[in-house]
Amino acid sequence: MNRLDFGDDFVWGVATAAYQIEGASDIDGKGKSIWDEFTKKKGKIRNDHHADIACNFYYRYKEDIQLMKSMHIKNYRFSISWPRVLPNGIGAINEAGIAFYNNVINECLEQGITPWITLYHWDLPQVLENAGGWTNRAILDWFEEFASVCINNFGDRVKHWMVLNEPVAFTGAGYFFGKHAPGKWGLRYFLPAVHHATLSMGRIGRLIKELLPEAKVGSTFSHSPMEPISLKRRHINALRRADAIMNRLFIEPILGLGYPTEAVKALEGLKKYMLPGDEEALAFDFDFIGVQTYTREFIQFSLLMPYVWANIVEPKRRGVKKTTTMDWEVHPPSMHATLKRFHNYTNMPPIYITENGAAFEDHVADDRVNDEERVRYLEAHIEQVLRAKKDGMDIRGYFVWTLMDNFEWAEGYNPRFGLIHVDFDTQERIIKDSGRWYGEWLS
Ligand code: BGC
Repeated sequence: MNRLDFGDDFVWGVATAAYQIEGASDIDGKGKSIWDEFTKKKGKIRNDHHADIACNFYYRYKEDIQLMKSMHIKNYRFSISWPRVLPNGIGAINEAGIAFYNNVINECLEQGITPWITLYHWDLPQVLENAGGWTNRAILDWFEEFASVCINNFGDRVKHWMVLNEPVAFTGAGYFFGKHAPGKWGLRYFLPAVHHATLSMGRIGRLIKELLPEAKVGSTFSHSPMEPISLKRRHINALRRADAIMNRLFIEPILGLGYPTEAVKALEGLKKYMLPGDEEALAFDFDFIGVQTYTREFIQFSLLMPYVWANIVEPKRRGVKKTTTMDWEVHPPSMHATLKRFHNYTNMPPIYITENGAAFEDHVADDRVNDEERVRYLEAHIEQVLRAKKDGMDIRGYFVWTLMDNFEWAEGYNPRFGLIHVDFDTQERIIKDSGRWYGEWLS
């Protein structure tokens, strides 16, 4: 396999998210996000970690962009912290926050790196959460204001925009299970959050197109291929429900197919939040779709998970010996299966893989991190992307998750996903062997 097999114009990059790397959580006028608050609650995050400092990217962005450059990385996907630019969620703009992102964007451009912005990667201003967050329909106006500020300030230089990062992850983990910020659980939070998140993609997508007609607009969706634990009817039905929630819930309304209510009865409750005109407003013709995939899942029927009546069977329980630090099976063909599923939808715009990568236990020895498993993971997944391209699928790019080890949400700093190793005591960076490998691949 050779990089040029992908074509000259194939986009290669890395991705990060504001809360996971920036730190400076209370600096230069930044407001609090739901993650700043959530991480302070005992027992919510493994080892009670938080991201007050994280990778200190707020102060180290120049060095980190230099590292990217030294690795021949030409595209950088990052997110904007909403409370850093609008500390009160709406209203007064924090000029220091705007200046920070301008610096990041300018530095990228000077170093020959194209910036790709994700508007929302999960760090909602806490003040907006206090007013209901994603469960309050007013979020559509709040988000429009935040997006306008970003478009007006960064749109002259940034030509690639993504509205949301993985809506099923932040509505599911944040408003259904309570495992992520803001820690709410139950259908009465989940359903309105789902509907407003879906509507926001079209609403903000249209806004970007209107204000920046030349920009390319997308949004990102997670996907894991699923298999039933056995062919018993109850497991197959459980799989249908889990798949509808995890893999179809957000992409299908965007494509004009509506919510997959036929598969999960509880989704009928979404009607309660629908206003006249919503049905049409849900669909939006994005310029591209960001697909994020890491593994596959085995599903079984379960009484423990209300409404979905299904749960995931951990890899070890089905005999998989080696998994990643997240306890995810390494299964490269899932990349191909995921791409194929997206490709098979009618009217699917071009696809970018906006996240793919793996956390393994890394060890530093003599200033080196020999992370061969990650190299093999990336290589095998990239091979599957090529296979998909050769099958005729319109796939335009691939972003590794992630540039450097960072705050992995509820798992704290334990899982290390980076191409660059970060010592969280000293902030020292070491490019791992996987980072060198990616650098060579790109050179
Ligand atoms: C998220 C990232 C996260 C990664 C690994 C994705 O769901 O977008 O923020 O770190 O997966 O769990």
